[in-house]
Amino acid sequence: MLPELITDVPGPESRRLAEELRAHESRNVTFLADDWPVFWERAEGTNVWDADGNRFLDFTAAFAVAGLGHGRAELVAAMGAQAGRLLHGMGDVHPVAAKARLCRRLSEVTFGRWGAGAGKTLLANSGFEAVEAALKTAVLATGRRGVAAFAGGYHGLGYGALLPTGFEKFRAPFAAQLADVTRWLEYPRTEAGLAGVQEELDRLDAAAIGAVVVEPVQGRGGVVIPPAGFLAALRAWCDTHGALLVFDEIYTGFHRTGTMFACEPEAVVPDVICLGKALSGGFPISACVGRAAVMDAWPESDGEALHTSTFLGHPVGCAMALESIRLHEAPETAAQVAACAAHLEGMLAGRTGGGLTAVRGRGAMWGVEFEQPGAGAAIARKLLAEGILVLPAGQHGEVLAFTPPFAANAEEVQFLGEQLTRLTGR
Ligand SMILES: Cc1ncc(COP(=O)(O)O)c(C=O)c1O
Repeated sequence: MLPELITDVPGPESRRLAEELRAHESRNVTFLADDWPVFWERAEGTNVWDADGNRFLDFTAAFAVAGLGHGRAELVAAMGAQAGRLLHGMGDVHPVAAKARLCRRLSEVTFGRWGAGAGKTLLANSGFEAVEAALKTAVLATGRRGVAAFAGGYHGLGYGALLPTGFEKFRAPFAAQLADVTRWLEYPRTEAGLAGVQEELDRLDAAAIGAVVVEPVQGRGGVVIPPAGFLAALRAWCDTHGALLVFDEIYTGFHRTGTMFACEPEAVVPDVICLGKALSGGFPISACVGRAAVMDAWPESDGEALHTSTFLGHPVGCAMALESIRLHEAPETAAQVAACAAHLEGMLAGRTGGGLTAVRGRGAMWGVEFEQPGAGAAIARKLLAEGILVLPAGQHGEVLAFTPPFAANAEEVQFLGEQLTRLTGR
């Protein structure tokens, strides 16, 4: 449905709530301005209603979590049923049944589907924790502390996850406490870029690198699609030098780029895959899934886990993730993503020119890049007033990203296209 009731955005209730936040939330968290944000009240499908009753069309899927749609009935039912039975368990001590089922299903949907044997899982809550679990796995499996990572790579903001996160602005304030273990590589955009990566890899002190951490498609870095052969080149380098290849598919996983996982079109199998966001479709749960032999670098628990947390294997998160995986395995989901992809690709085709320098994307994950830093962010603010939710991306806010729930239809995508034309002239 197209937006309606958009009058005064942000409306009076959103403005009142913003003042409440200004007084009581750490001032670094929520960006508060005259035209941003609106406070979400409820959501359904591709639509979000704010605290003033305005209805918005969502092209973010709330950070790519709600690919299956906001308020998806099956997920809500799984959550309710689990919450009614058992709201909290004892993750690593007396676990819940759903944790055992989820670990098995994660193995089946990744390494099992890829014909690469069994996977073993470390569950966590946020995406960054799954990345940190992968980094620890690499230390245990290889005995090396070095990490190779990519400029513009985003892996979360915990101290461990900051090691491979290639955004200087997030690292700089805390650099004094970050170990100097990361070797930076350029994320390739072209064939020439790929040759450059190969040269950079050849120059690394390979014996010091335990993990190569990479997004198969960069998300927050600006929806960057690498050339074919990139993942295979990383796989070959890791095989030669005994490093773990870690795919961070927290953003791209579960059909965001069209296939179940973004690494699948190239048929490159990692040693570890990190999952989060759409894994549950709306509950904070993440997973570090590795080849069984690699994960067995962790010693068997003697009653004191080396890596766990209070909410590990939360029953509600596990129940939702199980249902979400079931829905993703149904052929209807792939078909829905394919339709959404066709709408987005068609709407964005031929828009480059003027200050709009590139259109990139795959599946239900697209971005347009502007010459001017901050242009993506500026247009996101203007689109909010038109009833469209979008997010900027790129290291300098130069990209406008579109990652809708997969149910976004032709009319909704066309409406976005019309507003883009009005605001950008393209
Ligand atoms: C690729 C990728 N990795 C890790 C993260 C961090 O996830 P979280 O914000 O849940 O910690 C994100 C978040 O956007 C992401 O896109």
